[in-house]
Amino acid sequence: MTYNIEKQHEKGKLHAIERINALLDKDSFVEIYAEARHNCYEFGMDKKDIPYDGVITGFGTINGRRVAVYSQDFTVQGGSLGKMHGDKIAEIISKAIECKCPVIGINDSGGARIQEGVNALAGYGNLFYQNVRASGLIPQISIIAGPCAGGAVYSPGLTDFIFTIDKISYMFITGPKVVKSVMFLDISEEDLGGGIIHSQKSGVSHFRCPDENDCYTKVRKLLDYIPHYYGDVLKPAGKVAYDAKKKVREIKEILPERKTQGYDVRKLIEALTDDGSFFEVAEEFAPNVSVGFAKIEGKSVGIIANNPSALGGILNCDASDKASRFIRYCDAYNIPLLTLVDIPGFVPGPEEEQKGIIRHGAKLIYAYSEATVPKVTVITRKAYGGAYIAMCSKHLGADFVFAWPTAEIAVMGAEGAIQILYAKQLKDPSQAQMVQEKTEEYKNTIMTPKIAAKQGYISGIIEPEETRGKILSCFKFLEEKRDTAQPEKKHGNIPL
Ligand code: HXC
Repeated sequence: MTYNIEKQHEKGKLHAIERINALLDKDSFVEIYAEARHNCYEFGMDKKDIPYDGVITGFGTINGRRVAVYSQDFTVQGGSLGKMHGDKIAEIISKAIECKCPVIGINDSGGARIQEGVNALAGYGNLFYQNVRASGLIPQISIIAGPCAGGAVYSPGLTDFIFTIDKISYMFITGPKVVKSVMFLDISEEDLGGGIIHSQKSGVSHFRCPDENDCYTKVRKLLDYIPHYYGDVLKPAGKVAYDAKKKVREIKEILPERKTQGYDVRKLIEALTDDGSFFEVAEEFAPNVSVGFAKIEGKSVGIIANNPSALGGILNCDASDKASRFIRYCDAYNIPLLTLVDIPGFVPGPEEEQKGIIRHGAKLIYAYSEATVPKVTVITRKAYGGAYIAMCSKHLGADFVFAWPTAEIAVMGAEGAIQILYAKQLKDPSQAQMVQEKTEEYKNTIMTPKIAAKQGYISGIIEPEETRGKILSCFKFLEEKRDTAQPEKKHGNIPL
């Protein structure tokens, strides 16, 4: 097969076949249906030979494990998707379901092949259907390595993880030309649907990569953290490194002296998990909650942590969506959940109310309650109100919840509570001393984790330096956990 590699290089992109070779283990790729051709004879198509109908499909290995892959070739009719092209992708996904292996799609396409009319749309429809069939059975990873326009975005949109590459990835429902004609708005491809937009604003992209090779390296890395199919049990990493001495010091020093001061929770995650193992997902979107995979004694865990370094770690619509989606992914593939809680609450105010914080926050409660994987929660500082419940409290089925002595568990913080309980006295300067005393009393009696411990809402109060050991013991104890007590039903109705 001769490939039009130079034409693709002129656009600053690797060719479809080079991409597959960069992604998979050396010489492991086996192509299928290379001779497939379209059977569209309208609109001059009878004279067009479109090799492999513009998409290379097949299978191979990554780190020695089986994967299915497809890669759209932009040099062949703009990588446009006709019926055969769509069916080839649908077929490889279907095979991946049967053979229980992840499927990775490399997207670089002008969208539906215009000359094929409704047949191109049928190709997309068949593909979407397979994406949905595969969901929860095998991991689906999309790499956006060129344009991805129109309804074409919905195949990646249905997959588990989307990788974008700076300067070459564009995803939009309609391109700049349509936006201009319909909305009279001048906007560049980058500003409409470039990597930064989808990583920071829309949350569509989970990993933004500076270049193609970095992208393929990251995809290979991701596969090291996730089971390759529903029911797969990952082998623990061979070598485990954990610099206990250094990390215990870091854990003890993580909380700032001032209780209202922010800190980057990712430092705590790094300190609790195997050295260099934290692999953050959707790092740039809703940074007030950090989510990602990490390893503890070589085993994968999914981590959800409020991050007080952004918006004080408060939960808003985007953070709720991000966390809920991640929780559901981990639950689908039996990856245990570790939740680190330091949260003043759900964000108040008209902006988030109008965006539907009720609906989005409810997703988080739903996702945690529904998850039957081992769930361990550590409350380090604030756990107020609905956010206390929502962040994998015992009430939502956490298996074990620990609190540091610095934890504050209450309906709300002291200042807010006193303003409500002593509103009249606050206006009277002669009562200032009494109000001050009540504030202290509230902090010492209501906000202390001891009440929750006495009631059995938390499993214990632990020192920060004990945390990794406790988490590890709990996950080991929970290893064989199977929650079979769910009432029979078709499926629930998550508030989407
Ligand atoms: C048929 C297509 C095509 C398409 C590109 N080509 N897109 N052929 N159907 N959708 C062909 C071009 O005619 C050209 O052929 C070759 O691919 C390369 O395209 P260029 O335009 O020369 O490349 P470039 O300048 O880099 O521009 C890339 C592009 C542009 C921005 C992606 O091609 C473009 O705007 N394409 C159309 C995008 C679009 O609107 N697609 C439909 C979306 S709607 P030759 O023979 O000259 O080399 C959709 C509905 C799906 O997808 C619904 C699913 C539910």
